[in-house]
Amino acid sequence: MLKGIVLIMKNQTVSYSIILAAGKGTRFKSRLPKVLHKISGRSLLEVSIRAVLPHTKEEVIIVAGFGYSEVCEEVELLKKKLKVNIPLTLVKQEEQNGTGHATKVASDYLGEKKGDVLIIPGDCPLLNSDCMANLIADRSSDFSLLSVNLENPFGFGRIIRSDKCEFQAIVEEKDCTEEQRLVKEVNTGIVRTTQESLKTYLPLLETNNKQGEYYLTDLPALMLKDQKDVRAIVTSDQNSVKGANTRYELYLLEEYARKERLKALMESGVTVESIDSVFIDADSEVESDVYLGANTRIKGTSIVKSGAVLEGGSLIKDSIIHENVLLRLGSYVDQSEIEKEVTVGPFAQIRPHSHLGEGVRIGNFVETKACKMGKGSKANHLAYLGDVSIGANSNIGAGTIVCNYDGKNKNKTIIGDQVFVGSNSTLVAPVELESNTYVAAGSVVTKKVPSGSLALGRSRQVNKDGWVTNKKS
Ligand code: UD1
Ligand code: CA
Repeated sequence: MLKGIVLIMKNQTVSYSIILAAGKGTRFKSRLPKVLHKISGRSLLEVSIRAVLPHTKEEVIIVAGFGYSEVCEEVELLKKKLKVNIPLTLVKQEEQNGTGHATKVASDYLGEKKGDVLIIPGDCPLLNSDCMANLIADRSSDFSLLSVNLENPFGFGRIIRSDKCEFQAIVEEKDCTEEQRLVKEVNTGIVRTTQESLKTYLPLLETNNKQGEYYLTDLPALMLKDQKDVRAIVTSDQNSVKGANTRYELYLLEEYARKERLKALMESGVTVESIDSVFIDADSEVESDVYLGANTRIKGTSIVKSGAVLEGGSLIKDSIIHENVLLRLGSYVDQSEIEKEVTVGPFAQIRPHSHLGEGVRIGNFVETKACKMGKGSKANHLAYLGDVSIGANSNIGAGTIVCNYDGKNKNKTIIGDQVFVGSNSTLVAPVELESNTYVAAGSVVTKKVPSGSLALGRSRQVNKDGWVTNKKS
């Protein structure tokens, strides 16, 4: 039943959404624009776009300024990633003269267009479309903002109400009297209004405040003077609507979200050894009956399938880990696919474009790169396997090095099925070891080894009888 209500709310839409993302994020003390800082692998800008998209019919307008070209690049990536089918338009706020000024830049862009507008700050790390549904559903007002009660309201604009509890004004922290500072109801910065209202009232904003900026938050009081219907709608969803002005505030919200995700995963049948040290990006998936050891990091668009055991200290990035894989302590897997029943590590590095077939064994201090290994093949100790294709049931001995790089180009090595490469061998690419071949330990292989043969590429041992005894006497 409840789900039904949420669904109906979700269908509530506005014509335009405006994301305020031009600020420098002074309190972040960063060269990177604040909206490009990440939470669980997604930029704050991505979080903002995801939150407004389900509510927006016509166009999303992003006001950018500080780090404009970097924000542009991120928007281009997000258009593809989120398969956005309405325009995502960037408008430039040349000077950051406040949230009212930023909104005016977007409103000037909209010009003669008409319709409902949703405005959000670009710095709410846990914003989601559900928490704005009520605000958007109430379309009878001229200006509605979302407010929230916070135990510690420091830094936020306070909502000032009359004795009859009617909304009167927003006063920014820096402009508050001692008494106003005690108010715990604060402005989230999330607003629903119309382009018509924005066009009429934004030009009336002034900068007579402590920061000398055009505050969007002065708009409601101006509209009230004209007997417009202005409302503050209270939400109880504190974390979802909180803005992050410092890296510590971002950290606290990320911690909260991370632990909620881990709790939900545990409820779905995942074992988490330490809730304090397991990190999973928002775009990664973990199936039930997975074991996640302490200090596991699952990043990007990774999938960890049922029955996999990640002993801990591992980093998995944009990779697929199939059923019942055992990743032993300290394994690093990047942009690779690991099929069922494979064992990796401890301390192994699976670099991009590797594909380990079912039941493969990779042991300690083995590094692979663009390495395809067939079912049941093994490299159990100390090896480098770069740009190599290995068939099924082959054994790569300890200390085997594939010399894929000749100083200019990367060359391929092809190893067939049931090949036995003796320890400490050097395979100089391009080279091929056909199926059913042996390489004697310590060989340097520079030419093709035909099927059925043994390659011996080392100097022969000579024993000098009595040499030690003669030397000593
Ligand atoms: C703002 C609100 C405050 C509210 C809080 C909620 C104002 C004046 N204050 O304060 O009432 O409690 O958000 O999180 O609106 N931005 C621009 N151009 C600018 C200035 C800001 O695009 O010239 C963008 C920022 O990049 C940011 C957003 O607007 O994403 C909010 O700005 P910020 O400086 O973080 O405002 P707060 O001080 O948090
Ligand atoms: Ca803020």
